[in-house]
Formats: sequence, structure tokens, C-alpha cells
Amino acid sequence: MGKSKGQKFGGDWTNVKLEVIAKYLRAYTTALKNSPTPETPFHKIYIDAFAGTGYRDARRDDASKDQQNLIFPDIAEPGPQALLEGSARMALQIKPLFDEYIFIEQKAASCVHLEELKIEFPHLADAISVQQGDANIEIQSLCVARSWKMDRAVLFLDPFGMQVDWRTIESIAETKAIDLWLLFPLGIGVNRLLTRSGDIPDPWRKRLSAFLGTDDWYDEFYKVEAGSDTLFPQERIIKASMDVIGRYFNNRLKTIFEGVAETPGVLRNSANNPLYLLCFAVGNKNGRPIALNIAEHLLKAVR
Ligand SMILES: C[S@@+](CC[C@H](N)C(=O)[O-])C[C@H]1O[C@@H](n2cnc3c(N)ncnc32)[C@H](O)[C@@H]1O
Repeated sequence: MGKSKGQKFGGDWTNVKLEVIAKYLRAYTTALKNSPTPETPFHKIYIDAFAGTGYRDARRDDASKDQQNLIFPDIAEPGPQALLEGSARMALQIKPLFDEYIFIEQKAASCVHLEELKIEFPHLADAISVQQGDANIEIQSLCVARSWKMDRAVLFLDPFGMQVDWRTIESIAETKAIDLWLLFPLGIGVNRLLTRSGDIPDPWRKRLSAFLGTDDWYDEFYKVEAGSDTLFPQERIIKASMDVIGRYFNNRLKTIFEGVAETPGVLRNSANNPLYLLCFAVGNKNGRPIALNIAEHLLKAVR
């Protein structure tokens, strides 16, 4: 693990992503160890909603399939990741431990690998549950199934593309008990669906609206500039920059969460192009100051 203070995290962007999450999880279980009281601490849950296999080699195969299924573009940099640890295995090694680990994954074959984690981590076998299904459905039902009075969770949403629905993010915020880390597919998804001309195929529009939870994005992302001189006599459509798109999404999070990290991390490929924003939002009012403090400190190293 790299040092976060005043220093960049090392390695490619998947390393960076997992280092940030790992450091947050450690700080989280430490901070909540004796909270609200040492006698009756919160039941702490780690929820990994796009859990993969436990190893990072999942990305290579799944990326191309997701792309076909979801009209989304290529994964720019699969990277040399065979047998490197993925988020699920990483989380199981965090100390202090969580009380429960929920791994959600759509692919049956990946769920088999996730189940094997119970053998690899026998002391945690009873705390692990693997749920095969669509993350949107599974999370929304999980969020309403519990009272969230004594439950507290960190939820990691790590999709390849634009699979998350805004309704899912809302259901997470409504628990007022979950801290959310989310990969926003800026360069890899949203920016590519927003065509330069402003003519956007209907299925793409629908996906953007489901992802952003509103239809108003078109007017935010496209401005009409009146023609002015002989060089540009006709009006032109000007598309928003990636900065504007990222800020718009972060502001959307602010409308439903108690607190949101002001400046998300930027995960870039080796050509320095932004692939994803690493966004953080906190659901609980009392947890807000410390959670934001830790997350913003970690995100400073991911610019
Ligand atoms: C980027 S990978 C996750 C990587 C993992 N977090 C890690 O660090 O090892 C995305 C995973 O989401 C799964 N997936 C894709 N669509 C899904 C959906 N709608 N619901 C649940 N899982 C999905 C894919 O099969 C893939 O394993």
C-alpha cells in the first residue's frame, strides 16, 4: 500500500482505486469499533455490489461482454492484472473486521469463485454472503429489508460502465446509514454517449436518464451558441467538458446524501485520459464529519 499523505498512490488506476477503498475500510472499522458504545457497537457491513471473482482478472473477459450488452464502449486499459487481488478479497483482509460481507455479482461463474472465499477465509465463512443477481435489484431490496438502526455499511459500486440506476443510488441514500464509494464512468461511458453533434440515439438517452435520474441533463450538457460572424453564421451546439459533466453528477449526489466529497478522484489510463471519477458520499448525519474528512484526505492523492 502506498502512502496517501502528499503523495500519489502507485500503479495503474485499478490499484489506485483499491488502495483508496482499502484505506477507507480500515479507517471505517477502526472508527466504528466502539461506536455508538463499546457494549453495543454497530453491526458493520461491507457491501460489494459489482464484486467480480475476488481476483482482478475478471475485467478482461467481462468487459467485452458488458460492452455488447450495454452498448458501452471499450474498457480502455484492462492492464496486466491476472491474479491480482480484487475488491472482495481485499475487503476480507481489512482489520478490524466487518461483521458481515455481502458480495453481489451477476455472473454465476464469478459467484462460484466468490463462494470459494468462504473456504479461503474460514473464520469469516459465516459472515460472508454471495448474492447472484442484478446489483440494482439486489441493493434496492437490501436497503429496504433492514431497519438500519444498528446497521452501518460501506457500499462499493464498481461497474464497468453505466449499469447503475439512479433509483439504486437513492435507495442507498435513503437508509441514512451507508457510506458510498462509486465509480462514475466519465470517460468510459457518459462522455461517449454524449455525442458531439447532440444527436443521441434513443436507447442512449434512456440509459443516461436512468443513470442520472432526470431528463434535464440535455440542457445542462448542450448549449446553443448563436451564429455571430461570417465564419460561424449559423448557430452551433457546444457540448460540455468532462469537468462540467463530473461536477453535474457530484451535485446530483449532493441532492440526496448528507455529505459528498467535494472533489472526486480521477482515475486515468496511461495516456492520462480520465476513465472514471471515484466519488464518495456519506449517508449518516453523525458520521458525516469524520467520513468526509477521511475520504477527502484519501482523494487528494487521486487527482
Ligand atoms: C469492474 S468489475 C468488478 C471488479 C471488482 N470490484 C474488483 O475490484 O475485483 C464489474 C463486475 O460487475 C459484474 N456485473 C456487470 N453487470 C452487473 C449487474 N448489473 N449487477 C451485478 N454485477 C454486474 C461483472 O460481471 C463484473 O464482475
